[in-house]
Amino acid sequence: MLKQHKNITFRKLSSNDPMPYELLLLADPSKEIVDRYLKNSGVYTAILDGESVGVIVLFPISSNEIEIKNVAVNPALQGQGIGTYLIENVIQLATSKNKKSLHIGTANSSIGQLSLYQKLGFEIMEIKKDFFVDNYPQPIYENNIQAKHLLVLIKNL
Ligand code: ACO
Repeated sequence: MLKQHKNITFRKLSSNDPMPYELLLLADPSKEIVDRYLKNSGVYTAILDGESVGVIVLFPISSNEIEIKNVAVNPALQGQGIGTYLIENVIQLATSKNKKSLHIGTANSSIGQLSLYQKLGFEIMEIKKDFFVDNYPQPIYENNIQAKHLLVLIKNL
């Protein structure tokens, strides 16, 4: 992984940095929902050649559990290991802070994402039925499947 991107770095955005909405909205189509969780989250980016090419948003759900609310990579650079790089950095960060678990939610239709998260050790623990039908104004489709249910995956650290 990442053989072609040796000069990639992982860094936390400060409150003065502009939010990379073009990336954040790839993972979550609702700016309103994104803005709601950004207020209480840490935002980290992958920097390649001085440019932000990926984002990952960490939201504390308790003193020892963190939820990855958003992870996204520039579409031109997807499939090159940057998503894996972001999540692996978060696993290291959370482990170094003695956190107990990482949570991530995704839709029943997000086949690639479900593959990625399970390869990194996350396990499906809960299904929130009709979450996307009830919380988003328009129907969402991916891979010709309607996004209806939210699958919650957890990795114990
Ligand atoms: N179809 C099939 N498999 C996929 C796909 C896909 N579209 N995307 C990722 N994968 C899987 C593959 O299994 C791949 O493993 P492989 O390389 O052995 O084939 C694995 O993920 C690793 O892929 P990476 O290259 O590390 O992932 P990438 O850099 O593309 O980042 C991400 C993954 C963040 C999901 C990216 O594709 C993206 O930005 N997508 C749009 C936004 C999005 O859907 N974000 C997640 C929403 S859920 C949330 O944010 C909590």
